[in-house]
Amino acid sequence: MNTKNHALLYHGKAKSVYKTDDPEIVIVKFRDDITAGDGEKKDTLSAKGHLNSIISAKFFEILEAADIKTQYIKLLEPGVMLSHRLDMIPLEVITRNIAAGSLLRKFPFKDKQEFDPPIIQMDYKSDEFHDPMINDDIAVALGFVTREELNEIRRITLKINQVLKIFLLEKGIIFPDFKIEFGKNHKGEIILGDEISPDSCRFWDSKTCEVLDKDLFRKGETGVMDAYLEVASRILDDNEKEKWDIKLV
Ligand SMILES: Nc1ncnc2c1ncn2[C@@H]1O[C@H](COP(=O)(O)OP(=O)(O)OP(=O)(O)O)[C@@H](O)[C@H]1O
Ligand SMILES: [Mg+2]
Repeated sequence: MNTKNHALLYHGKAKSVYKTDDPEIVIVKFRDDITAGDGEKKDTLSAKGHLNSIISAKFFEILEAADIKTQYIKLLEPGVMLSHRLDMIPLEVITRNIAAGSLLRKFPFKDKQEFDPPIIQMDYKSDEFHDPMINDDIAVALGFVTREELNEIRRITLKINQVLKIFLLEKGIIFPDFKIEFGKNHKGEIILGDEISPDSCRFWDSKTCEVLDKDLFRKGETGVMDAYLEVASRILDDNEKEKWDIKLV
Protein backbone atom coordinates (compact mmCIF):
# COMPACT_ATOMS: atom_id res chain seq x y z
CA MET A 1 0.00 0.00 0.00
CA ASN A 2 1.27 3.43 -0.92
CA THR A 3 1.15 5.64 2.16
CA LYS A 4 2.36 8.64 0.07
CA ASN A 5 -1.27 9.59 -0.53
CA HIS A 6 -1.86 9.91 3.21
CA ALA A 7 -0.78 12.75 5.46
CA LEU A 8 1.68 11.69 8.14
CA LEU A 9 0.39 12.31 11.66
CA TYR A 10 3.32 10.87 13.60
CA HIS A 11 6.63 9.20 12.82
CA GLY A 12 7.70 7.15 15.84
CA LYS A 13 10.75 4.98 16.36
CA ALA A 14 9.16 1.85 14.84
CA LYS A 15 5.78 2.88 13.45
CA SER A 16 4.26 5.72 11.47
CA VAL A 17 0.68 6.90 11.81
CA TYR A 18 -1.15 8.30 8.77
CA LYS A 19 -4.48 10.09 8.33
CA THR A 20 -7.31 8.66 6.25
CA ASP A 21 -10.41 10.35 4.78
CA ASP A 22 -12.21 9.49 8.03
CA PRO A 23 -10.89 11.67 10.88
CA GLU A 24 -11.54 8.90 13.40
CA ILE A 25 -9.56 6.27 11.47
CA VAL A 26 -5.80 6.10 10.96
CA ILE A 27 -3.32 3.82 9.27
CA VAL A 28 -0.60 2.48 11.55
CA LYS A 29 2.38 1.43 9.45
CA PHE A 30 4.74 -0.99 11.21
CA ARG A 31 8.28 -0.29 9.96
CA ASP A 32 11.41 -2.48 10.03
CA ASP A 33 13.26 -0.04 12.29
CA ILE A 34 14.21 -1.32 15.72
CA THR A 35 15.67 0.64 18.63
CA ALA A 36 16.73 -0.11 22.20
CA GLY A 37 18.34 1.61 25.16
CA ASP A 38 16.33 4.85 24.97
CA GLY A 39 16.90 5.01 21.19
CA GLU A 40 20.70 4.66 21.40
CA LYS A 41 20.90 1.28 19.65
CA LYS A 42 19.30 1.32 16.19
CA ASP A 43 18.98 -1.03 13.27
CA THR A 44 16.64 -2.12 10.49
CA LEU A 45 15.53 -5.74 10.39
CA SER A 46 13.92 -6.92 7.19
CA ALA A 47 10.35 -8.28 7.66
CA LYS A 48 10.05 -7.05 11.26
CA GLY A 49 7.25 -4.60 10.41
CA HIS A 50 5.26 -7.31 8.66
CA LEU A 51 5.68 -9.78 11.49
CA ASN A 52 4.89 -7.30 14.26
CA SER A 53 1.73 -6.11 12.53
CA ILE A 54 0.52 -9.69 12.02
CA ILE A 55 1.34 -10.67 15.62
CA SER A 56 -0.32 -7.49 16.99
CA ALA A 57 -3.40 -8.07 14.85
CA LYS A 58 -3.73 -11.60 16.21
CA PHE A 59 -3.48 -10.40 19.83
CA PHE A 60 -5.96 -7.56 19.20
CA GLU A 61 -8.42 -10.08 17.70
CA ILE A 62 -8.10 -12.33 20.74
CA LEU A 63 -8.66 -9.38 23.07
CA GLU A 64 -11.67 -8.11 21.09
CA ALA A 65 -13.17 -11.60 21.39
CA ALA A 66 -12.74 -11.22 25.16
CA ASP A 67 -14.67 -7.90 25.10
CA ILE A 68 -11.61 -5.67 25.39
CA LYS A 69 -11.79 -2.62 23.13
CA THR A 70 -8.77 -2.06 20.91
CA GLN A 71 -7.73 0.26 18.08
CA TYR A 72 -7.78 -2.65 15.65
CA ILE A 73 -10.02 -2.57 12.58
CA LYS A 74 -8.10 -4.78 10.17
CA LEU A 75 -4.78 -5.46 8.49
CA LEU A 76 -4.93 -3.96 5.02
CA GLU A 77 -1.77 -5.90 4.19
CA PRO A 78 1.23 -7.05 6.22
CA GLY A 79 2.66 -4.01 8.00
CA VAL A 80 -0.40 -1.82 7.48
CA MET A 81 -3.05 -1.75 10.22
CA LEU A 82 -6.28 0.21 9.83
CA SER A 83 -7.00 1.50 13.35
CA HIS A 84 -9.28 3.76 15.33
CA ARG A 85 -7.57 7.12 15.93
CA LEU A 86 -6.89 7.64 19.61
CA ASP A 87 -5.73 10.60 21.66
CA MET A 88 -2.88 8.72 23.25
CA ILE A 89 -2.34 8.90 27.02
CA PRO A 90 1.43 9.33 27.54
CA LEU A 91 1.80 6.32 29.84
CA GLU A 92 3.67 3.10 29.21
CA VAL A 93 1.64 0.56 31.16
CA ILE A 94 3.94 -2.31 32.05
CA THR A 95 2.66 -5.58 33.51
CA ARG A 96 5.13 -7.94 35.14
CA ASN A 97 4.44 -11.61 35.86
CA ILE A 98 8.12 -12.54 36.24
CA ALA A 99 11.04 -10.31 37.23
CA ALA A 100 13.29 -9.42 34.28
CA GLY A 101 14.98 -6.48 32.59
CA SER A 102 14.97 -3.01 34.11
CA LEU A 103 13.06 -4.14 37.20
CA LEU A 104 16.13 -6.15 38.25
CA ARG A 105 18.41 -3.16 37.69
CA LYS A 106 16.22 -0.88 39.80
CA PHE A 107 15.04 -3.13 42.66
CA PRO A 108 16.43 -6.10 44.63
CA PHE A 109 14.16 -8.74 43.11
CA LYS A 110 15.50 -12.19 42.31
CA ASP A 111 15.99 -13.01 38.61
CA LYS A 112 12.81 -14.76 37.31
CA GLN A 113 10.96 -14.14 40.61
CA GLU A 114 7.24 -14.67 39.99
CA PHE A 115 4.60 -12.10 40.87
CA ASP A 116 1.08 -13.17 41.73
CA PRO A 117 -0.78 -10.86 41.58
CA PRO A 118 1.21 -9.28 38.74
CA ILE A 119 2.93 -5.94 39.19
CA ILE A 120 1.59 -3.04 37.14
CA GLN A 121 4.16 -0.29 36.68
CA MET A 122 3.60 2.93 34.78
CA ASP A 123 6.25 5.03 33.07
CA TYR A 124 5.73 8.56 31.76
CA LYS A 125 6.15 8.21 27.97
CA SER A 126 8.49 11.06 27.14
CA ASP A 127 11.69 10.94 25.10
CA GLU A 128 12.65 14.31 26.63
CA PHE A 129 12.43 12.97 30.21
CA HIS A 130 13.58 9.40 29.29
CA ASP A 131 10.35 7.63 30.28
CA PRO A 132 10.63 7.94 34.10
CA MET A 133 8.55 5.75 36.38
CA ILE A 134 5.43 7.62 37.47
CA ASN A 135 2.79 7.24 40.18
CA ASP A 136 -0.92 8.07 40.24
CA ASP A 137 -0.53 11.42 42.00
CA ILE A 138 2.03 12.65 39.46
CA ALA A 139 -0.02 11.39 36.47
CA VAL A 140 -3.16 13.11 37.78
CA ALA A 141 -1.24 16.31 38.63
CA LEU A 142 0.20 16.38 35.09
CA GLY A 143 -3.41 16.47 33.94
CA PHE A 144 -3.53 13.80 31.24
CA VAL A 145 -5.53 11.24 33.18
CA THR A 146 -8.02 11.09 36.07
CA ARG A 147 -7.94 8.68 39.01
CA GLU A 148 -11.01 6.93 37.61
CA GLU A 149 -9.27 6.53 34.26
CA LEU A 150 -6.19 5.08 35.98
CA ASN A 151 -8.40 2.54 37.73
CA GLU A 152 -10.02 1.67 34.41
CA ILE A 153 -6.58 1.31 32.77
CA ARG A 154 -5.50 -1.08 35.55
CA ARG A 155 -8.70 -3.10 35.29
CA ILE A 156 -8.36 -3.53 31.51
CA THR A 157 -4.62 -4.24 31.78
CA LEU A 158 -5.12 -7.08 34.28
CA LYS A 159 -7.75 -8.59 32.00
CA ILE A 160 -5.42 -8.33 28.98
CA ASN A 161 -2.70 -10.05 31.01
CA GLN A 162 -5.02 -12.86 32.01
CA VAL A 163 -6.36 -13.47 28.49
CA LEU A 164 -2.96 -13.38 26.77
CA LYS A 165 -1.13 -15.35 29.47
CA ILE A 166 -3.54 -18.26 29.10
CA PHE A 167 -3.54 -18.08 25.28
CA LEU A 168 0.27 -17.98 25.10
CA LEU A 169 0.81 -20.83 27.52
CA GLU A 170 -1.28 -23.06 25.25
CA LYS A 171 1.22 -22.16 22.52
CA GLY A 172 4.23 -23.02 24.68
CA ILE A 173 5.13 -19.42 25.52
CA ILE A 174 5.50 -17.81 28.96
CA PHE A 175 4.63 -14.13 29.26
CA PRO A 176 7.06 -12.50 31.76
CA ASP A 177 6.06 -8.90 31.00
CA PHE A 178 4.64 -6.52 28.42
CA LYS A 179 4.16 -2.81 27.75
CA ILE A 180 0.95 -1.38 26.37
CA GLU A 181 -0.43 2.07 25.62
CA PHE A 182 -3.96 3.38 25.86
CA GLY A 183 -5.74 6.30 24.28
CA LYS A 184 -9.18 7.85 24.21
CA ASN A 185 -11.51 7.64 21.24
CA HIS A 186 -13.86 10.45 20.17
CA LYS A 187 -16.39 9.25 22.78
CA GLY A 188 -13.78 9.55 25.55
CA GLU A 189 -13.59 5.76 26.03
CA ILE A 190 -10.27 4.21 27.09
CA ILE A 191 -9.09 2.00 24.24
CA LEU A 192 -6.00 -0.20 23.86
CA GLY A 193 -3.78 1.23 21.11
CA ASP A 194 -0.28 0.92 19.67
CA GLU A 195 0.98 -2.68 19.42
CA ILE A 196 1.49 -5.97 21.23
CA SER A 197 4.53 -7.60 19.67
CA PRO A 198 7.97 -9.03 20.44
CA ASP A 199 9.17 -5.39 20.42
CA SER A 200 6.97 -4.58 23.41
CA CYS A 201 6.68 -7.91 25.26
CA ARG A 202 8.92 -10.59 26.72
CA PHE A 203 8.16 -14.05 25.37
CA TRP A 204 10.03 -17.12 26.61
CA ASP A 205 9.72 -20.69 25.43
CA SER A 206 7.89 -22.49 28.23
CA LYS A 207 10.19 -25.54 28.20
CA THR A 208 13.63 -24.03 27.61
CA CYS A 209 13.11 -20.37 28.63
CA GLU A 210 14.64 -19.48 25.22
CA VAL A 211 14.15 -15.76 24.54
CA LEU A 212 11.76 -14.98 21.66
CA ASP A 213 11.65 -11.17 21.77
CA LYS A 214 13.56 -7.89 21.46
CA ASP A 215 15.92 -8.82 24.31
CA LEU A 216 17.94 -10.67 21.62
CA PHE A 217 18.48 -7.35 19.84
CA ARG A 218 19.21 -5.53 23.12
CA LYS A 219 21.93 -8.09 23.88
CA GLY A 220 23.35 -7.98 20.34
CA GLU A 221 22.53 -11.61 19.62
CA THR A 222 21.74 -13.09 16.22
CA GLY A 223 18.47 -14.68 15.14
CA VAL A 224 16.20 -11.82 16.18
CA MET A 225 13.87 -12.25 13.21
CA ASP A 226 13.90 -16.03 13.58
CA ALA A 227 12.54 -15.54 17.10
CA TYR A 228 9.80 -13.14 15.92
CA LEU A 229 8.91 -15.62 13.18
CA GLU A 230 8.73 -18.39 15.77
CA VAL A 231 6.25 -16.34 17.83
CA ALA A 232 4.08 -15.71 14.74
CA SER A 233 4.27 -19.34 13.76
CA ARG A 234 3.16 -20.51 17.20
CA ILE A 235 0.26 -18.09 17.74
CA LEU A 236 -1.30 -18.14 14.25
CA ASP A 237 -3.53 -20.94 13.07
CA ASP A 238 -2.82 -22.68 9.75
CA ASN A 239 -5.24 -20.51 7.72
CA GLU A 240 -3.67 -17.34 9.08
CA LYS A 241 -0.18 -18.59 8.35
CA GLU A 242 -1.17 -19.35 4.79
CA LYS A 243 -2.91 -15.99 4.38
CA TRP A 244 0.13 -14.04 5.62
CA ASP A 245 2.69 -16.38 4.10
CA ILE A 246 4.36 -17.25 7.41
CA LYS A 247 6.77 -20.05 6.57
CA LEU A 248 8.17 -21.96 9.51
CA VAL A 249 7.43 -25.21 11.35
N1 LIG B 1 -4.51 4.26 17.43
C1 LIG B 1 -3.64 5.26 17.51
N2 LIG B 1 -4.00 6.54 17.21
C2 LIG B 1 -3.09 7.53 17.30
N3 LIG B 1 -1.79 7.37 17.68
C3 LIG B 1 -1.39 6.13 18.00
C4 LIG B 1 -2.28 5.02 17.94
N4 LIG B 1 -1.59 3.91 18.32
C5 LIG B 1 -0.35 4.31 18.61
N5 LIG B 1 -0.20 5.65 18.43
C6 LIG B 1 1.01 6.43 18.64
O1 LIG B 1 1.80 6.25 17.47
C7 LIG B 1 3.19 6.31 17.81
C8 LIG B 1 3.88 5.05 17.33
O2 LIG B 1 5.21 5.29 17.34
P1 LIG B 1 6.30 4.23 17.73
O3 LIG B 1 5.76 3.19 18.62
O4 LIG B 1 6.98 3.87 16.50
O5 LIG B 1 7.40 5.05 18.48
P2 LIG B 1 7.45 5.76 19.84
O6 LIG B 1 6.30 5.34 20.66
O7 LIG B 1 7.71 7.17 19.55
O8 LIG B 1 8.70 5.17 20.45
P3 LIG B 1 8.88 3.85 21.28
O9 LIG B 1 7.70 2.97 21.04
O10 LIG B 1 10.13 3.26 20.79
O11 LIG B 1 8.95 4.35 22.71
C9 LIG B 1 3.27 6.46 19.33
O12 LIG B 1 3.41 7.81 19.66
C10 LIG B 1 1.90 5.96 19.79
O13 LIG B 1 1.54 6.53 21.02
MG1 LIG C 1 6.02 3.01 20.62
